This record gives sequence, C-alpha cells and structure tokens, in this order.
Amino acid sequence: MKFLSVISLCFFLCLCVHRDLSGGSNSRGSDTIDEWGRLHPDAKRWPSSNGWKGFKNVADKVHEMGLKFGIHLMAGISTQAYDSNTPILDTKTGKAYEESGKTWHAKDIGIPERACKWMDNGFMALNVTSGAGKAFLRSLYELYISWGLDFVKLDCVFGEDLDFEEISYVSQTLKEIKPSIVFSLSPGVKATPNMAKVINGLVNTYRIAGDDWDKWSDVASHFDVARDFGAAKLIGAQGLNGKSWPDLDMLPFGWLTDPADNEGPHRLTNLNLEEQQSQMTLWCMAKSPIMYGGDLRNLDSWTKDGFASTDGARAWVATGNNGGQSPQGQDIYIAFFNLSDGGATISVKVDNLAKVLPGKKLRGLQGREVWSLKSVTLGDVLSAHVAPHGCALFVFDY
Ligand SMILES: *[C@@H]1O[C@H](CO)[C@@H](O)[C@H](O)[C@H]1NC(C)=O
Ligand SMILES: *[C@@H]1O[C@H](CO)[C@@H](O)[C@H](O)[C@H]1NC(C)=O
Repeated sequence: MKFLSVISLCFFLCLCVHRDLSGGSNSRGSDTIDEWGRLHPDAKRWPSSNGWKGFKNVADKVHEMGLKFGIHLMAGISTQAYDSNTPILDTKTGKAYEESGKTWHAKDIGIPERACKWMDNGFMALNVTSGAGKAFLRSLYELYISWGLDFVKLDCVFGEDLDFEEISYVSQTLKEIKPSIVFSLSPGVKATPNMAKVINGLVNTYRIAGDDWDKWSDVASHFDVARDFGAAKLIGAQGLNGKSWPDLDMLPFGWLTDPADNEGPHRLTNLNLEEQQSQMTLWCMAKSPIMYGGDLRNLDSWTKDGFASTDGARAWVATGNNGGQSPQGQDIYIAFFNLSDGGATISVKVDNLAKVLPGKKLRGLQGREVWSLKSVTLGDVLSAHVAPHGCALFVFDY
C-alpha cells in the first residue's frame, strides 16, 4: 500500500467555493470574510468552522488520521473584501495597518484592472510592493498556518496570471513561518518552460496545463507538455527548501463528478482501463506529483488493487519520488504509448536505447512489464503490442 500513502499525503480543500454556488466562478458577494478581509470557510458547508475557527478542527482530525492537510487559495484579494473596503491587519501590532499617517484598507491595495482571468468577479491582484499589501498577505498566511496547514495551492498567480511579486513574497513568508509547507501553484490556463524558470526556485510544484478531466483528449494533451518541461530540465529542478516538480494535474480515476459540480451526481471515470494506465504511466515517467482526483472512500476495484499492487506501486513510487531510482538500485524504466485509435506493435532497438542510457549494459537485463506483470529479457529489440490509447511500462533491474 505504499502508493496510497503517497497519494493520500494531502487532504485538500478549497476555501472559496460554497455549497450553494455552482461552478465557483462568480463568488462576488457570497464569500465569508472576517473583519480584516480574509476568507474563511462557509460555515454551512463546514460547521466545525463556526465562530471563526476556520479549518482548525478539520486539520486536527486529518492529522489524527495520519494524513497531511492542504488548502487551495486564490491569489490577491477577494472582490468582496475590496467592495467592503476592510482594514488590513498588522499582525505585529494586532491593529489596523498604518503607514504615512493613514490607516490602510482593501481599496488601497486591490487592483481591480487585474482581476483573476478565470474568476474575474471573485478575485483581483493586490499591490505586493506596498507595505499594506505585504501586511495583508502576512496576515492571511499567519492565520491559515495557525489552522495546521502542510500544503498550500495558490491559484491565479502563474501562467497567464503570473504575479512574480506575490509568489516571491508568499514563498519567503512560508519559509519564515513554516518551512515544511509544500507550496504549489496553479496556472489557470497554461504555462511555458520559460515562465516556470522564473518561479521554480520559489515553489515545490506548479501546474503546467489546464484542468485535466476524464477525457482521452485531456490526457493526450499532456504528452507534448511533459516532453517540453523534461527537455527544459525542470523536472526535479531547484525548489523552495528542496526541489520543484512540474505538475500535470490530478488523476481522474474511480468515483468522480463533473467539472464545476459541487455535489454530484457521481459516476465512474469515463477513461477506459488502457487510458488510465497510460495516464498513470506518463505521470510517473514525467515525475509529476500524484494527486488522486476522485472519492477515496469509493474506489473501484481496478483503482484500489492497481494502486496497491506491489510491482506497480514500486514503479510509481520510484519514478515519482526519488529521481527514477528505486531504493534497491537503479532500475531502468521504459514506456511505450500509442496515442492513436488503432492498436500497434511498438519496437525499439536496444542500440537506440543505449544512446539515451549511455554507460549502461542493457543486453540481457531482466525485468517485467508493469501492467501485465509479464517477465521480459532485453535482447536486440524491445517490442510490445500496445492497445489504442494504451501503454507498456517496462522496469529492468539494473
Ligand atoms: C503599489 O504601491 C507602491 C508603494 O506604495 C506604489 O508606489 C505604487 O504606485 C503602487 N502600484 C499600484 C499599481 O497601485
Ligand atoms: C499506434 O497505432 C496506430 C494504428 O495501428 C499506428 O498507425 C501508430 O503508428 C501507433 N503509434 C505509435 C506511437 O506507435
């Protein structure tokens, strides 16, 4: 069950979406904010937050279960705080922030012309160069960290919404207050390797594609993206207090609902078995963070058994978490994919593999194909019949 312990590292909640709000894209006027303009959970949806307790009780429960706790946040400031022109908390004094003889408010730091591109009614950028803007962000993260966060996903701040100032300031604040926090970014729509090179050292993971749902076209669109970030040497590059990882988004397997549906109807994934195997294999080969996107309490048997199978788990954990090297040695991973609609036999000459794996003696290596568990000995040519949208993942002991 190694894999489950990896994917369940995080119990992940979005602060801004309300039970009675569909889609979450139009939250103006319905967010719960405190007297300092900071978002809190909707007490109807999270009764344990009543009395401004936030997610403290939920985080305590999650920690008791041996899991880590994370939330999704929107960058900048909420339109609701801006409209209400709330004062800004100076956590050093416990009072409203003052500078140059005036008390600062949300309207002094919000930048309405820079609304979040995909949630333009809900959030806008804030002026991080001002002392009041920094005080606001500091007050937010001090509050959220006091609830017991282990993971923060910050949205609308990367890709086309890139806000370097906010990413740097949040990164520095997290490092100061709680260095063990995992800091993750979301791009909104898309990101390029050049954008990533600006921020990778400040964060731990960052989404490099739009939302991934259970459609083959969504899965297929990640191959070129993964290749480009791999070629740019961004996989496992320098990050905040360690390394950083391009994030291909969640795995939409098992029991799901539709995008932007808060409360079902629920259904099984639309990806067939081969498509799920291909997605899992690509995510592992690209060392993407593994975020399971369905209901863990209602896994179908493939998802549950597949995730728990020793051999698969070893391959995934090894590729996803320790730089491609298994604890036992330096296993070699080779994956074939067929993106088209007909099945195909895919082959590669061992001499060509040797070009990308210089210095390794490949002929005669023993291994197996992970999904079929068939044993394989590497001869002059490695080949496999690959179903449409399917894959073969070979692991050779080295
Ligand atoms: C941001 O704040 C700085 C410092 O207070 C100020 O000089 C600058 O004009 C502000 N920028 C915007 C876009 O409001
Ligand atoms: C996948 O299968 C199709 C149809 O059989 C074939 O034309 C195509 O070349 C295969 N793709 C790869 C990457 O081998």
